Amino acid sequence: MSETRVAGAAVATPHQDLHSEQGALRGEHPGRSRNPVIKVADLAWLEFEKPDLDRAEVFALDFGFQIAARTESALWLRGSFAGTPCMVIRRGRASRFIGPAFRAAERADLDRLARATGSAVRDADVPGGGKVVALLDPSGFPVRVAHCAEQLPALPEQRPLLLNFGTQHRRTNATQRPPREPSRIQRLGHVVLETRVFSRALDWYLDTLGMIVSDFLFLDGQRGRGPTMAFIRCDLGSVPADHHTLAMHLGPGTGYVHSAYQVTDLDSIAAGGEYLNERGYQRSWGIGRHIQGSQLFDYWRDPDRFMLEHFADGDLFSCDIEPGWAPMSASGLAQWGPPVTRDFLGASPSPAKFREVLHALRGDNELDPARLLGLMKAMNS
Ligand SMILES: [Fe+2]
Repeated sequence: MSETRVAGAAVATPHQDLHSEQGALRGEHPGRSRNPVIKVADLAWLEFEKPDLDRAEVFALDFGFQIAARTESALWLRGSFAGTPCMVIRRGRASRFIGPAFRAAERADLDRLARATGSAVRDADVPGGGKVVALLDPSGFPVRVAHCAEQLPALPEQRPLLLNFGTQHRRTNATQRPPREPSRIQRLGHVVLETRVFSRALDWYLDTLGMIVSDFLFLDGQRGRGPTMAFIRCDLGSVPADHHTLAMHLGPGTGYVHSAYQVTDLDSIAAGGEYLNERGYQRSWGIGRHIQGSQLFDYWRDPDRFMLEHFADGDLFSCDIEPGWAPMSASGLAQWGPPVTRDFLGASPSPAKFREVLHALRGDNELDPARLLGLMKAMNS
């Protein structure tokens, strides 16, 4: 039993009923560690590998990134906010996701983390330099925790539109003309990962990086077996943090599901979406508004079929909010929007998917026939 679960038995704080109908039952996972090694401050950037950096750059600009740095072997992408770059694409043989990098709150956290995990503090290969600790999470993803020497300066951004509401007229003698241009990305918001070892991976992120759970999802009728998805945020104390910086769910595969980038507002999502549509990119699902996290969302496929999300107006929680609990269902993904697509759910059957399921059911992991059936039911409910 992990430290996180032991802490769970002791937590008696009632659910604050602010963001979910249900809180935890007695003895359920508390969604945070009592004594984590460090508390990361944010997601810093995501690392990918692709064979063709020129092609990657064309999509990146169309999607709304700006170039932070470009070398022979790497393309660093950024948003308009000051801070770290939000993505690096390194030249490699295949198109693949490598792993996430988190931002340490302070330089000394890297030493603490390195000591606790038996790893080393190394120089970070990031524009402006810095230090990094390289770890491996229980799913097998390389996870970096970085402290950057320099912040990228802020860049000009799209201004939010001035909206008129009912009898509140803030805009008169002026028109509304959102520009038909790429949505200008402000920052990286979150990454979603699929894993065959969900509860081991969850406890690792809580115990090692000090992250805390905003919402748990469980399989209908199998709540007693614990959650199978978690929306996880950074613990910044009384400073509100994104509802989720990392989300993870149990599944037959191990891999990247999607990553999300904040833009100015709904018009930026919609006009930027039209821009992508006109250039022939494939929309996966949107536009809608989520339940867990409340974001306005729009999901797109890049030319290598990686899913990326534009989002705006997400929830921010301070450390006082306890996790919500809800059953997992496809219809529970949005408050409004078009019906969720099979493409978004990754539910299209294929020989590769079938092999993945067989492999997952045979291995030492948390997927079994009852849970597989529960996941399939959730996708259709
Ligand atoms: Fe998302």
